[in-house]
Amino acid sequence: MDPKTIAVYDAETSSFIADWMSSTPAMVRQLVHKYFVAPARIIDIGSGSGRDVDWLMKQGFEVEGVDASQGLIASAQSRYPQATFRYDVLPELPNTKTSTFDYALCSAVLMHLPRQDVQAAVKNILRVIKSGGKLLCSVRPSRQASEREGDGRLFTELTLGELAQFFIDHGCVLLDSMESAAEGSDRLWRTIIVEKSC
Ligand SMILES: C[S@@+](CC[C@H](N)C(=O)[O-])C[C@H]1O[C@@H](n2cnc3c(N)ncnc32)[C@H](O)[C@@H]1O
Repeated sequence: MDPKTIAVYDAETSSFIADWMSSTPAMVRQLVHKYFVAPARIIDIGSGSGRDVDWLMKQGFEVEGVDASQGLIASAQSRYPQATFRYDVLPELPNTKTSTFDYALCSAVLMHLPRQDVQAAVKNILRVIKSGGKLLCSVRPSRQASEREGDGRLFTELTLGELAQFFIDHGCVLLDSMESAAEGSDRLWRTIIVEKSC
């Protein structure tokens, strides 16, 4: 994990939550409807505000949100008391058992890892999914010249091809991939859906 990035999320929890709660991740929701079938168990890795955990529960999934920011976990838990949020950290996910989930969502998280940790993170995300399970993963590049944005958060540059290749190298089949900006936003999202085939 990148301690500086987590420190920023812990220090500015309220403003990040206000930002995330004011937007709807249309692309993520569309892909969930296309590739994930309820009822099933989902882990939301890097669950942030808890917005997506709540939405997934409303779609009929059994969901757990995990995050490396204690501030965000506490905030999500008080906003959605009926949901489960707990502390766990990429790249190892030490608090999550192997082959537990049918699906994983890892939306806007992997770019916060130093490049040298991405491979181990991919391995452990796949470890916690059952064989035949699916993952939706999205990243975005830094909006500044440096990989570390002005507020101190790390945005490791991962092209769409690199992102997909990390998972293919770990025995996944690529089901879908896209690069798109959310409506009315300058943020370019790179999103893949993969299936764990072994
Ligand atoms: C940009 S936010 C995305 C939140 C949410 N997934 C969404 O799409 O709104 C990134 C989230 O990843 C979490 N995060 C960053 N690095 C992490 C790591 N190494 N392990 C687990 N969570 C991490 C942050 O605390 C934050 O909640």
